[in-house]
Amino acid sequence: MQNKIKRVAVFCSGGDAPGMNAAIRAVVRSATYRGLHIFGILRGYEGMIDGNINRLETKDVGNIIHRGGTVLKTARSKAFMTKSGRKKAYESLVAHDIDACIAIGGNGTLTGAQIFSKEYPIPMIGIPGTIDNDLFGSDYTIGFDTAINTAVEAVDKIRDTADSHNRLFFVEVMGRHSGFIALSTGIGSGSASVLIPEKETRISDLIKMLKKGSKRNKLFSLVIVAEGHHEGGAAAIAKKVNKDFDYYDTKVAIIGHLQRGGSPTAADRVLASRLGYGAIEALLNGEENVMVGVVNNKICYTPFKAAVNTEKSLDEDLMRMAEILAL
Ligand code: F6P
Repeated sequence: MQNKIKRVAVFCSGGDAPGMNAAIRAVVRSATYRGLHIFGILRGYEGMIDGNINRLETKDVGNIIHRGGTVLKTARSKAFMTKSGRKKAYESLVAHDIDACIAIGGNGTLTGAQIFSKEYPIPMIGIPGTIDNDLFGSDYTIGFDTAINTAVEAVDKIRDTADSHNRLFFVEVMGRHSGFIALSTGIGSGSASVLIPEKETRISDLIKMLKKGSKRNKLFSLVIVAEGHHEGGAAAIAKKVNKDFDYYDTKVAIIGHLQRGGSPTAADRVLASRLGYGAIEALLNGEENVMVGVVNNKICYTPFKAAVNTEKSLDEDLMRMAEILAL
């Protein structure tokens, strides 16, 4: 297999994540160094279907390592979920003589790559790029570190005003299905409580905890809510809490897509560079249909099936510690 691969295409799909550009740069430069011809597909699977595939040279990825977003653009493609869409995508790749692809994205992106790799003989390598950090097979995903730094900085600012007014703030962070962002934001910002999709927290328990705080003269509180919590987002939870607890003046803040933008942190740039380089090495070593990740600081490869279907669990000790430190 390895000698057959000469022309490789790279693309981003799903939600953008800070550090994707650093990964693209690493893929392009590693591939060029290895004598491969590298192409960029614009707008992910949509661009693959439309044949939006262009040659990339080393100079095309200069001056992008520090930029958020993705120079290749991204999309959430409905068409690629259909058999006919994937057939068109395959035909475009064949028309451009593409031998292999590198997909940068989250769970949806790698699920698409897994399905495609079963249907068509084009090897794929995945790079975990999502702020959610919810992919099994890598301790961290590209964008997570930047997102939590953005969220912690936002909560620090909210803390100032919450403290000045003696207010209770419910701060919503991203994470439809996972609480990685919420947990790290909560620990990093010293919040009173973290509500995550993986753990059932009853409103009555939350109120008990807040009342305990108010008894010990805690005049303001910060509660971090992952958007996918079973009781609803920050606004819904604030409403439910306020029904039975009116000690504080309550406010809601939703950080939203701010978490997805901005210049990537050094940690994300280094991770993205390692994964981009690792993806090209993987292809040349004959790996296919695997996600490249970093586990215990070592590059490793996880088959798509395991990466997308195995739940990456939150560290129970961290969850316990977050509760203890908030007492
Ligand atoms: O998967 C990344 C993510 O930012 C999630 O945390 C969030 O729920 C979702 O994407 C938002 O997606 P969109 O930008 O398409 O609304």
